[in-house]
Amino acid sequence: MACGFGVCLGCAAPRSHGGFALVCRQGPVFEAGEIDWAGLP
Ligand code: FES
Repeated sequence: MACGFGVCLGCAAPRSHGGFALVCRQGPVFEAGEIDWAGLP
């Protein structure tokens, strides 16, 4: 993580139902099914 407060978008993770989650603001803990693991770099 770069900024840690939702500005740089460096921590964006694809959600399984579309869109992205900011891990620094909305995580760091997620249900496994919430994240599109295949879409991660
Ligand atoms: S670390 Fe910058 S937006 Fe999350």
